[in-house]
Amino acid sequence: MAAQFPPLVAPSVLSADFSRMAEEVIAVERGGADWLHLDVMDGHFVPNLSFGAQLVQALRPQTNLVFDVHLMMAPVDPYLEMFAKAGADHIHVHIEAGPHTHRTLQQIRALGVKPGIALCPATPPEAVAEVLDLVDVILVMTVNPGFGGQKFLASQLPKIRTLRRMADETGRDIRIGVDGGVDVETAALATAAGADMLVAGTSVYGQPDYGRAIAALRAAGRRAE
Ligand code: DX5
Ligand code: ZN
Repeated sequence: MAAQFPPLVAPSVLSADFSRMAEEVIAVERGGADWLHLDVMDGHFVPNLSFGAQLVQALRPQTNLVFDVHLMMAPVDPYLEMFAKAGADHIHVHIEAGPHTHRTLQQIRALGVKPGIALCPATPPEAVAEVLDLVDVILVMTVNPGFGGQKFLASQLPKIRTLRRMADETGRDIRIGVDGGVDVETAALATAAGADMLVAGTSVYGQPDYGRAIAALRAAGRRAE
């Protein structure tokens, strides 16, 4: 299937005020967010620590938003069940995180969670060719993962185009998400290349009006139609 419009907008709580996390989540739900992006960092796969399944579980009763959990972890397999039980609706794992991604994605599906595959900027699109039948989302990193507030890597746009073609060839409904440095300018570029899900940390939580920020991102995606 082709890219869907308008794109979904998934604010990343990594850029939220951690001392008021429940309020921050409710605020983006009221502001029209489609999904809530939760970035889990292990200090090993990426050079930063964020939070674990306890926070996911604590936030679950606060909102009806789809929980889009991005695990920047290696190994990741021992923790899948923990995040599924905590309330993840989607779990993204990195193709770079281990040699057995095929099994990992099957395990996520068996847990009743939608699997996603994430690719770091250095990874070519062909790296995920053999697992496309197992995923519902492809998450293209447009920064090196580990921190919010980094600059969008325009070098990743051809990769988004290639992955959109590869996803369409499966005949399945696969969302292509873009994660890192997404703002109204880069959202337009990414959606024109075939992305239909926008992760946004700074460009939502760094703005005074979350609802306006979310609408602006969605509208930037519409421009590409
Ligand atoms: C980066 C994370 C992103 C991050 C994006 O490692 O995966 O989801 O929160 O933040 P911004 O939108 O500020 O680049
Ligand atoms: Zn992320």
